[in-house]
Amino acid sequence: MTFGPSLEKLREQGLLRVLRVLHGRSGARVTIDGRTLLNFASNNYLGLAGHPAVREAARRAVDEWGAGATGSRLLGGTLALHERLESVLADWKRRPACAVFPSGWHANTGVIPAIAEAGDFVVLDRLAHASLVDGARLSKAKLLVFSHNDPEDLERVLRRLPASGKRWVLTESVFSMDGDAAPLVELVGVAERHGARLYVDEAHATGVFGPEGRGVVCGLGLEGKIDVSMGTLSKALGALGGYVAGSEDLVRWIHNKARSFIYSTALDPAAAGSALAAVEIARSDDSFRRRVLSLSARLRDGLGLKASAGPYPEYERGPIVPWVVGDAGRAVKLSQKLWDEGFYAPAVRPPTVPAGTARLRFSVTADHSEADIDGLLETLRKL
Ligand SMILES: Cc1ncc(COP(=O)(O)O)c(C=O)c1O
Repeated sequence: MTFGPSLEKLREQGLLRVLRVLHGRSGARVTIDGRTLLNFASNNYLGLAGHPAVREAARRAVDEWGAGATGSRLLGGTLALHERLESVLADWKRRPACAVFPSGWHANTGVIPAIAEAGDFVVLDRLAHASLVDGARLSKAKLLVFSHNDPEDLERVLRRLPASGKRWVLTESVFSMDGDAAPLVELVGVAERHGARLYVDEAHATGVFGPEGRGVVCGLGLEGKIDVSMGTLSKALGALGGYVAGSEDLVRWIHNKARSFIYSTALDPAAAGSALAAVEIARSDDSFRRRVLSLSARLRDGLGLKASAGPYPEYERGPIVPWVVGDAGRAVKLSQKLWDEGFYAPAVRPPTVPAGTARLRFSVTADHSEADIDGLLETLRKL
């Protein structure tokens, strides 16, 4: 089998993806192909991946616990370090219990099939992240979608379901490619009326929004209404790993049924140690959050971007700043022009986003300066 013709077709459609290799740490600036570029591509929203205390915690964890966890969680791989991280995350997220996974992808693709079984229904926001979609597809439940951030459409979908089987509603609190916020209070209301349970992915809200960076669910005081609160350690926390927080029973169920928890080597000590340090900083020091939100507002205002018509504009002015250009080829060209001017802002194209909505997804971090943002705006105006 040859992939050549198919790869050529992707290239013609402006959909071919290639890897860019960074030389050195990812911060406000990155070195790629011998050039130093301003980096608007990373999810390191609070800049904690490079924070000295977080890096030191990773080193200490490796010294104490070794380079790897050496086993799956049920077979010798559960370290006291994991237990500490799970307890800290549960407390931060105001939930009774928590389970950590080697990545956020593992969390979604392991937990959804564990909780949604044959005869059940999974109803997904149409723009939900690929890991939520794949988790739903791996489950034996029937998969349905509702229009993006549309509680009325969710109600329509739920009303048509038969009385038998559990109903799970899956959404993100802040969406990864648009940076808009789900109408969570309304979704909770609809779910309650139809006996459905809610699963909320806070990958892009954790650390960034809510008191002490607890996320949007806690910011809205909904922690008692959401059955599964999922997130990652890999974005604002600058480490790696995923978590799911919820009831003690949910976590015991995960230990027994989530295949990615059971059949994969446990989260490595460096990631667990750095995540612990990052949570500590995110909770105790508001300055990173204030800084990234102020820089994000500066970029949005400069681009003339308005919040969606959703109910929580305060959660829609975060570090994910999409600049939708529509056509994939145009997005690639604009990204290339920015590259030529010294900015790294990759084009995001289908299938990551729906056809016709290719974009540059600018990602602001606390490492940026006001001058970095102004430089990007000036260059965009020029282009
Ligand atoms: C909304 C959402 N959920 C889950 C994930 C997966 O998380 P991780 O990168 O930790 O595997 C991502 C990562 O891009 C994401 O954006």
